Amino acid sequence: MAYAPFFPLGGFSPLQSSRLSEVATELGASPKQVALAWLLQRSPNILVIAGTSSPAHLRENFAAADLVLSPAQVTTLDGVRGQVDLL
Ligand SMILES: NC(=O)c1ccc[n+]([C@@H]2O[C@H](COP(=O)([O-])OP(=O)(O)OC[C@H]3O[C@@H](n4cnc5c(N)ncnc54)[C@H](OP(=O)(O)O)[C@@H]3O)[C@@H](O)[C@H]2O)c1
Repeated sequence: MAYAPFFPLGGFSPLQSSRLSEVATELGASPKQVALAWLLQRSPNILVIAGTSSPAHLRENFAAADLVLSPAQVTTLDGVRGQVDLL
């Protein structure tokens, strides 16, 4: 069964997290690309439909499918929820 996460980039509240930025710097990618890669790598039945009005962002978002997150980076990102809960 396919799962399409609603607002994969945060929709009206764009995703922001120091952990996303940290992993993005390590990979030479953007935080939004890391957010998409994190979802895609979570499970093969996750499909993302990121909305954009920008051709440059569209290219970035497609390229996110090629990013490979290490287990350590996934662990770092999995801590984002706890980080948000503290805000
Ligand atoms: N069924 C419903 O009623 C309903 C309602 C809302 C949404 N949805 C679904 O939710 C999904 C996404 O909705 P959404 O587009 O509102 O939210 P989203 O994909 O989470 O976020 C879109 C926002 O992210 C920005 N963005 C996209 N790529 C980016 C990048 N590479 N770097 C920086 N910013 C980037 C876009 O700005 P730019 O335009 O500047 O790139 C836009 O502001 C879609 O699958 C949509 O069909 C369904």
